Amino acid sequence: MKRVLTGLQPTGVITLGNYIGAIQQMKEYQEQYDSYMFVADLHSITIAQDPEELRKNIRSLVAIYIACGIDPKKNTMYVQSDIEYVPCVSWLLECNSYYGELSRMTQFKDKSAKHANFTSGLLTYPILMTADIIGADANFVPVGVDQKQHVELARDIAIRFNNKYGETFVIPEPLIKKAGTKIMDLQNPTVKMSKSAENKKGVILILDDVNVTRKKIMSATTDSEMSIKFDPENKPGISNLINIYSSLTGLNISDIEKEFEGCNYGTFKSKVADVVVKELEGIQERYNEVKDSQYLTEILDSGAAKMREAFKKKYEIMKDKIGLVR
Ligand code: AMP
Ligand code: TRP
Repeated sequence: MKRVLTGLQPTGVITLGNYIGAIQQMKEYQEQYDSYMFVADLHSITIAQDPEELRKNIRSLVAIYIACGIDPKKNTMYVQSDIEYVPCVSWLLECNSYYGELSRMTQFKDKSAKHANFTSGLLTYPILMTADIIGADANFVPVGVDQKQHVELARDIAIRFNNKYGETFVIPEPLIKKAGTKIMDLQNPTVKMSKSAENKKGVILILDDVNVTRKKIMSATTDSEMSIKFDPENKPGISNLINIYSSLTGLNISDIEKEFEGCNYGTFKSKVADVVVKELEGIQERYNEVKDSQYLTEILDSGAAKMREAFKKKYEIMKDKIGLVR
């Protein structure tokens, strides 16, 4: 069975955009593939993190995965920093990749320009990501467009290592989501909903108080017409609400347009709010059940044991091929 693997950084609560864009897709993949879902905590420290926050966020993110429907029976779930062989694999890969290719990565160029004094981890970050992917023999890596370049680098590095030392790694492929699932900011519907947005009124976090969420939807930016029509170019606000409604109910867009024909925006927004609130209430209930449970600890312990074994094996093979033997 083909293997699918992805990770998110534990840098705060995920948004409705992440849920609809990334997690929903993982739920489909877990039915078809051997699935791996981990917390990329080592990646998060390439930019300074508050230790107290990080401590909370790591476990919380796994609880969020499970609450959102990532099934621990169908997924191997683990925390990256539990697997001490990941940085070992990463180092051997670092010595088979080039400063030039790393410094050309778009994300590195953007982030290094924002921080006057950035860490060297910010530069080598895609190699650590390569280790996550090829160290686990992943065939497919579902990511957002912003991470596609990193998965392509992982591909290049895997091919290079195989050519130099013989068959060692599976060659991974990025899985980019189908179009149409990009959720936009409620206040500024021409940019994507993102947890880093300055104005929090446009962003729904999965663990937000549902009354706050309802208010955010009711005050979403729309337009001066009075028609519920899907037209992202001219009616980005309404189209975004239609997208959210469609993603959570499974109804298609033309059926939604029909259902709300002649309806005013207030009524439509309150229907969208009902659907979002219902979804979030379910997620939050499961989150609270699982967050501090022994069950969660056991899932992470067994994920760590399995992946430590897998990465150790890969590391030993690499060492042997490279000549690191005594
Ligand atoms: P990020 O935390 O922004 O790097 O995103 C993590 C994952 O969520 C990626 O697969 C993104 O493509 C997806 N994602 C983030 N924001 C949105 C959004 N507003 N709409 C749809 N997908 C999103
Ligand atoms: N770099 C990814 C992000 O910021 C997270 C990540 C780390 C990842 N390792 C990975 C994603 C391996 C997919 C596969 O979103």
